[in-house]
Amino acid sequence: MHLEVNSEEFGTDTLKGLSNPIQKSIPSKYLYDSKGSFLFEQITVQPEYYPTRTENSILEEYSPEILQIIPKEIILIEMGSGSSKKTKHLFDSILKRQDKLYYFPIDISFNFLDSVVTDLETQNQNIMIKGIPNDYINGIKDCNNILFENNFKFDSFSRLIIFFGSSIGNFEIDEARDFLKAVRINMNDKDFLLVGFDMIKDECLIEPAYNDKAGFTAQFNLNLLTRMNRELGCNFDLNEYVHYAFFNKEKDRIEMHLKSKSDQEFRISGSDRIFQIYQGETIHTESSYKYNEEKIHELAIRSGFSLERIFSDNNNWFNLVLLKPC
Ligand code: AVI
Repeated sequence: MHLEVNSEEFGTDTLKGLSNPIQKSIPSKYLYDSKGSFLFEQITVQPEYYPTRTENSILEEYSPEILQIIPKEIILIEMGSGSSKKTKHLFDSILKRQDKLYYFPIDISFNFLDSVVTDLETQNQNIMIKGIPNDYINGIKDCNNILFENNFKFDSFSRLIIFFGSSIGNFEIDEARDFLKAVRINMNDKDFLLVGFDMIKDECLIEPAYNDKAGFTAQFNLNLLTRMNRELGCNFDLNEYVHYAFFNKEKDRIEMHLKSKSDQEFRISGSDRIFQIYQGETIHTESSYKYNEEKIHELAIRSGFSLERIFSDNNNWFNLVLLKPC
C-alpha cells in the first residue's frame, strides 16, 4: 500500500485524532510515507507475517480455476498494486488463454508505480500496462474512461478488478461496505472483483504477525512519530513510546498502538495546545479486521455483490473471494 497525502489534511486529521479524550488515534493511512512503505515491504517477508505468503500460495494454486469462472477476455485492474508481485500468477494464467493482456495497476504513489510499470513492461511483451496514479475509486473511473476513449466494446470483455493483501481489513466494517459499493457502481454485470481477506484465527498465530521478532512492525509503527515530528513540527521523543499490537477478540481485529512509557507532553506546530499523555496510555494507529465466511457473505450482500467462489489455503488462514455485481 502506498499513499501520498497533503500535509494540511495530515495536520487536521492528527489534531482531531489526538484531541479525542477517550482514545487518541491517527488514521492508519499516514503510516505509509516512503520509509513506512519500505518498512511495510519488509514486514511482508517476515516469517511471522503469514498473510502475504498465504495469499500468494492461493494465487499460485488457483489462478487457472479463478479464471475458468470468467468466460470472456479479461482486462485486469489492480487497486493498490504496490510491487505487483502476487499478480504474476494471474498474468501467467491469463496469457495462456489470450494473446495479450491490458493491465491497469492503480497506486497513489506515482514514483513507485512508475518503476514497477517499467520493470513489468520489460519483462512481459504481451502485457500492455497503463499505470494509474490515483486513489482506488477515481483510478477505476480513469480506467473506464481510457477504455471508452479507445473504443473498447464493454460487452466483449470482462474487467477483473483485484484488491489483494487483505487491505480491506484496514477499513472499519461500514467503511469497507461503502468502499465496495463505490467499486460496484463502476462495474457492469460482466465484471468480477477478487478480494483478499485475512481470516479470524487463534490469536497465538495472529499476534506474532504484528509483533515480528526482527522489529520491522515496531519500526513501521514508530515511524509515524518521526513523520509527525518532521512534517507537523511535533516533538515526540521516540524513546518514550513503544509499539503495542494485540488481537481484540470482541471486534475481531488487530489493534496497533503506540504506548507511552511515561507521563509526558507533546505539541503540534500550529496549535497552541499542549497535549498530555499518561504512562500506559496509547495512540491507536491501525486496525486490521479479520473475517469469517459469514462476515464476508454479509459484506458482499450489503455492498451489492453475489459471492461466486471462495478460494482458500489448507489451513483456511486466508480467503480470496470472487465477487460478481448483482
Ligand atoms: C496493509 N495491511 C493489509 C497490513 C495489515 O496486515 O493490516 C498493514 C500492516 N500493519 C502492520 N503490519 C501490516
